[in-house]
This record gives sequence, C-alpha cells and structure tokens, in this order.
Amino acid sequence: MTTLTTSNGNPVDNDQTSITAGPWGPILLQDFHLIDKLAHFDRERIPERVVHAKGAGAHGEFVVTHDITHLTKAKFLDTVGKKTPMFARFSTVGGERGSADTARDPRGFALKFYTEEGNLDIVGNNTPVFFIRDPSKFPDFIHTQKRNPRTNRKDPNAAWDFFSLSPESIHQQTILYSNHGTPDGFRHMHGFGSHTFKLVDKEGKFKYIKWHFKTKQGVKNLKPDVAAKLEGTNPDYATEDMFEAIERGDFPAWDVYIQIMEPKDAKSYRWNPFDVTKVWPHKDYPLHPVGKFTLNKNPENYFAEVEQAAFSPSHLVPGIDTSSDRLLQGRLFSYPDTHRHRLGVNYKQIPVNQPKCQVNTYQRDGAMVVNGNGGRAANYGPNSVNGPVQNNLVGSTFAPEEIEGLIGRFSYEVTDDDFTQAGNLFRLMDEENKNDLCKNIAGDLIKVKKEIVDRQLPHFERADPDYRHRVEKFIKELQKV
Ligand code: HEM
Repeated sequence: MTTLTTSNGNPVDNDQTSITAGPWGPILLQDFHLIDKLAHFDRERIPERVVHAKGAGAHGEFVVTHDITHLTKAKFLDTVGKKTPMFARFSTVGGERGSADTARDPRGFALKFYTEEGNLDIVGNNTPVFFIRDPSKFPDFIHTQKRNPRTNRKDPNAAWDFFSLSPESIHQQTILYSNHGTPDGFRHMHGFGSHTFKLVDKEGKFKYIKWHFKTKQGVKNLKPDVAAKLEGTNPDYATEDMFEAIERGDFPAWDVYIQIMEPKDAKSYRWNPFDVTKVWPHKDYPLHPVGKFTLNKNPENYFAEVEQAAFSPSHLVPGIDTSSDRLLQGRLFSYPDTHRHRLGVNYKQIPVNQPKCQVNTYQRDGAMVVNGNGGRAANYGPNSVNGPVQNNLVGSTFAPEEIEGLIGRFSYEVTDDDFTQAGNLFRLMDEENKNDLCKNIAGDLIKVKKEIVDRQLPHFERADPDYRHRVEKFIKELQKV
C-alpha cells in the first residue's frame, strides 16, 4: 500500500486524529499535516468562468479528410489522414458551475487542437450567430442573463428589456427560444465558429471562412417540459450523457466543414460578413468538408483538465487568422485576460493548456511557474547567446490586409435587414416548431412588464407578422391559466 504523505512529501502517521494537548485539550499549531490539509481545502475554489461556468469536456482526435492546402498553410491541415490531438469543452452560458445542463441557453462549443505549430482554439457555440455585434455590449448583455443585483434571482425583465432595446438580437433569440435552445445533451448538437475567420495560403493570400461542426449523432432537442423536469431531476444530464457514452466506447464525433468567401465579395455581399448576428446562407456559400473529430477519452480529473482548460479565439496558428468582426476583436482581448485572472499568468503551463510542441519564449516568472522557468537560458532577446529568434516569415502570424477610412465610432444602425434572417428562420419552421418557439417566448414574456413586451412585439412583427401573432396568442392563453 502507498503511504499517505503531506503535500511536501513527509509520511503521515495519522490522518484521522489531530494532535491535541491531552485527550480533552485544544489542537496544537505544530500539527502541520492538519493545517496543510485545512489550508489547502480553504483554497480549493478558483473563480468560476464569468460565463460558460457549467460544462463538460473530453479529449479526442481530429483527422483531415479533405485537402485544403490550396487555402491554408496550417501544418495540421497539410495532409489528408493527418491526426491532431484535441480537447473539447461544451457548456451552458448563463448559469453557475452547479447549474442545470438543460437550461434554455446557447451551448458553448470550445475546441483546442494541439498542433505542431502551437494550439489552435475554436471557441464557438451551438448557434451560428450571436445576440450582439459590438463587444462593448457584452458585459451588459451578460448582466441581464445573470442574477438581479437585488433579488439574486434570474430576471426576465432585464433580459427582455435588453433584447427589446437591442433588436439585432432577434435572430439569436429565435434560435434560443426554439427547441435548439434545449439540446438533448452535448452529443446531439452542431457547433459553429460563428465569426468570420481567414484561411491564409503559402503566398499570404486569404479567403474568409466560417467553421461548421456537424454532429454525427444527429441533432436532438428536448421539449421544454422535459428540459424543465430534467433541471430538477438530473441537473448534470448532458455531462452524464457524454461521459457515459465515452466510457462505453460510443465515441461522439463531428464532421468539420468550412464556408468560403472571396475577399472581393465581402464588400458587395448582401450581408456584412463581419456582423455575427447574420449567417451566410448555404445556397450562396456551401459547406466544404475538411475533417472529422472524435472524442474518445474522458478526463481523469475534472478540475485539472476541464475547469482549468483555457480557450481563446486569439490562440491561432499560421494559416488561420482573425477577421475584422468587431465582436471577435473584443474576444481576442477578453479570453487571455480572464485566464490571467481566473487561472493566473502562467495558465499556459497547466497541462491541458500546454502546447504539445516546443514553446520558446522570453516570458519568465509570475505566480506558479512549474516548467523550470527557462532554467539558465537568456531571458531577453535579441541576444548573442543562441536564444530563440523570430522566423522572419512575413504573414506568418497574420495575413496582411488593406484597410481604409477614418478612425471613428461607426455604429451599426438597426435596419430591416436585421429582421430578415430571423424571419426566414421562422418561416422555415414547421407548425409544431413555430408554436414551440412562440410558446417558449410567451412563457417568458408573461413575467415581463407590459412596456417591455410592447417594445418587443413589433420586433417579432418586423421578422414576420405571424411570429408576433403567435407570440401574442400564447401570451393571452398563458395569462388565462
Ligand atoms: C467563455 C467573454 C462572445 C463562446 C467566455 C469567458 C469570457 C468570455 C470572459 C470565460 C472564459 C474563461 O474563463 O476561460 C466573451 C466576450 C464576448 C464573448 C467579451 C463578446 C465580446 C462569445 C461568442 C461565443 C462565445 C460570440 C461563441 C461564438 C464562448 C465559449 C466559452 C466562453 C464557448 C467557454 C469556453 C470554455 O469552455 O472554457 N467568454 N465572450 N463567447 N465564450 Fe465568450
């Protein structure tokens, strides 16, 4: 049997009984093992993620199935059949770490690819669009999804006050309040990178792309009554479903696709490709297959591997680049910033976040250095002692792109165009799904002040008069109950 030790490796003679002054006396400060144990316990919690706090993760593998070397120089995509280890975390957004998996919410869809050129993270959702398109609105939006500062309860008035005053959110609302807002576990949902990114080829030429991840398990959603029941009876429903599937060898998998847009089309296309409240309809930009990923190994330890996982849309490899999507630009800052707060400045040294290639930086020190801190090697550059040097490959980390015009605050005015795609989505739904959507919305709106409802109803009408009509009908029906 292995001997229990203190955290500094000394053998423990007794783990059950503290050292006291006599059988009835107080505990002595010299009981290092007790104090070590309690002090560590006292510090077990780290800040939970400010959003997406509840989630589940697993390890897996990505394999290239189609050649896209004409589009990107990313090395992990350079050969059909090439495999790259990865880690995925799926999550709800608004709830705390202990909240229910089946709450109505978008689902986070975060992927980390441990490539030979460092980590690539694609930090998307199970929805192709988002509620807002300027990062300055994100903290306010999230406050409306969290608890009321006074009552400490979820607050539909705040949520709909914000939505009704930010009508660009209507497209994402229409997805959220449909049955896609309550997916049947994490295995049965598609994922989307949502934003527009660039793929950059060896010459530095780029094309705009969007990532799509299609579940091979098929899409399955929960009806609202089932989702609500599960919130009480099995709040860890999705976590359990994915863990147990992987344990029994039923590995979930997703096919990876891209939509591709020529840069010259970006300015003239019907939709602003940098507005994350809009999709690129597939009839204009069809899906091109790239690869497949499979999740085949559960974490050994939830906290170490899932809670400490740190994804960022700014973790990119040569050949994949950002776009000027404003929301994405805000995110590029926000994720590493929150990681430094949540996990510490050396969060990249935590095994789940560590690249599987060599890392050569002049970064040193900071809390919790666990990788030798560069040892005796020079901690500055340039140097004449053979330290790591830049590779001088122009466009290695970004694709040169022309910009023009004035610096300014160019607000996105809400126009009829902001309602078209939501209306199209509504019109695509069958009777049952239209009714579920409108009933789910009405279920919330009956808890909301009349002036807010009156401000929101015209937004539904702008998407489709029948959308408003059905929401109003269900509000009246539910008010009678
Ligand atoms: C998590 C900020 C928009 C997907 C987070 C976290 C922050 C954040 C601070 C916590 C990260 C951590 O503690 O590790 C923002 C900001 C946004 C934004 C400022 C807009 C300006 C989005 C959008 C998507 C998204 C549009 C999807 C398309 C996610 C996911 C996670 C996350 C999947 C969880 C990552 C994980 O599993 O660890 N976000 N977010 N976020 N966000 Fe965002």
